[in-house]
Amino acid sequence: MNANIAIDGPAGAGKSTIAKRLAARLGLLYVDTGAMYRALAVFFLRRGLERSDEEGISQAVADADVTIRYEDGSQQVYLNGENVTGLLRTEETGNMASASSAYGAVRARLLDLQRLLARESAVVMDGRDIGTVILPDALLKIYLTASVEERARRRIAELEAGGGSVDPDQIRRDIEERDRRDMNRAVAPLRQAEDAVLVDSSDMTIDEVVGTIAALYEERCRR
Ligand code: DC
Repeated sequence: MNANIAIDGPAGAGKSTIAKRLAARLGLLYVDTGAMYRALAVFFLRRGLERSDEEGISQAVADADVTIRYEDGSQQVYLNGENVTGLLRTEETGNMASASSAYGAVRARLLDLQRLLARESAVVMDGRDIGTVILPDALLKIYLTASVEERARRRIAELEAGGGSVDPDQIRRDIEERDRRDMNRAVAPLRQAEDAVLVDSSDMTIDEVVGTIAALYEERCRR
């Protein structure tokens, strides 16, 4: 089995930034599973489905084929053959992804793809249920979190850097709402795996977080 790293945690904890840097530093492949749920969300939005329409979404998901390719080392997500990578980071898509990922049929659609990627290459995979459901045998499991205030601050900075208009109160409410949904759903809720290491990045720099996790991984590889 590959020596994989599973990183779970709430929205805005810095999972993708950290996972990407770790992958580059340790020579692993970075797999962003949130992007896969977001690609499905694009599909549901285009179909005009409501977030709350579990039946409609569960039926529609059979028509959505998500695949991943790596171009110049960066993950590209294809939806029924179309590269949708540039469409994934909007609030609308994130909110649809958070709601639709609670449905069993949606999670089942991505499970095999995620496990296959980790069998084919050693990965740093980030998401919500990687340590608990997708890769229970990962060599290292990290639960990466930060305070709501700090996560909102980071998200606002990211949106402002992208030139978007920002309502800070709305961003904060969205984060709290997404936490509630991700942690309280019946299927594969976000929680810290028993054998995961908790890393709170609120007062840590990116380099400190990457250094901490890389040291843990290297130590486990030597065991
Ligand atoms: O990490 P992200 O914000 O790109 O993820 C978008 C949504 O997808 C998130 O609100 C919850 C869902 N998700 C999930 O349920 N399981 C995963 N492994 C990854 C993401």
